[in-house]
Amino acid sequence: MTRAERSGPSGIRLELDKVSRVFGEDSDTPFLALTETSLTLEPGEFVSVVGPSGCGKSTLMLIAAGLLGATTGEVRVNGDPLRSALTDVGIAFQDHLLLDFRTARENVLLQADVRGIDRKKLGKRTDELFKQLGLDGVDDKYPNQLSGGMRQRVSLARTLVHSPPMLMLDEPFGALDALTRLQVRHDLEQLWLQAQPTVLFITHSVEEAVGLSDRIIVFSPSPGEIVDEVSVDLERPRPLALGDTPEYAHYADQVFAHFERMGVLHGDVLPGGGGAGGGSGTAV
Ligand SMILES: Nc1ncnc2c1ncn2[C@@H]1O[C@H](COP(=O)(O)OP(=O)(O)O)[C@@H](O)[C@H]1O
Ligand SMILES: [Mg+2]
Repeated sequence: MTRAERSGPSGIRLELDKVSRVFGEDSDTPFLALTETSLTLEPGEFVSVVGPSGCGKSTLMLIAAGLLGATTGEVRVNGDPLRSALTDVGIAFQDHLLLDFRTARENVLLQADVRGIDRKKLGKRTDELFKQLGLDGVDDKYPNQLSGGMRQRVSLARTLVHSPPMLMLDEPFGALDALTRLQVRHDLEQLWLQAQPTVLFITHSVEEAVGLSDRIIVFSPSPGEIVDEVSVDLERPRPLALGDTPEYAHYADQVFAHFERMGVLHGDVLPGGGGAGGGSGTAV
């Protein structure tokens, strides 16, 4: 299935219009964390943001979710200015943020309690997601009884359980081992293909970005600004071993070329002396 063949996305349109962020604006040392940034996500589009640590990726996501104010600019959702936290969204952070005093299942069903959705309905969806994410049998376990990878997957289930039209995922696979990471990436792609929410996916893994995205937004080092957009027109679902294919190299090379030019990566660490090659898991 190519991008053109997909139809009927359920996602929303998200526009960031010249948003920037200065921290400590009134202090002696104001800090520009995000340069004026404009970016539009079309309904059902899967967009990744890649960039070096500290370039403002999380800041951008928090602004897009209405959780952090922008110093300049505006966020619009389906054309309407966003004035408070976006509610029609599933958010996952790098730190899984599960509640220690709730079981895995109850952590997911938090969405029912917070959003006033029928517990039975979300309970059924929780069963499906736990199955899909390899979480059979963890229902009654508390977070401290689960491995890091399992906690992250429970967190992902909580993000997805209410079928939000928008997902904002900030390095959601950060704590996973390499194999689980591949599996969860595949699971996320499947889940996304089913409902096609709009996705803003923050990552420092070029392979993950190529593996999942319709479009990759490449950020400069701090203060972050967009230096390029790479459209990825590959069949879906994409193979787990994508990193070993020439198609992967074609797209990854474009991203790595920017990081090399900006001094984020130096030629001698890049597979093939500048190309991406099979740099599976290569991250910035
Ligand atoms: N609340 C804050 N107060 C001051 N500085 C911040 C705050 N949040 C983030 N920063 C700074 O802004 C820059 C961008 O941070 P962040 O958006 O978290 O980057 P990334 O997610 O790309 O690693 C960093 O230098 C970070 O230290
Ligand atoms: Mg971050």
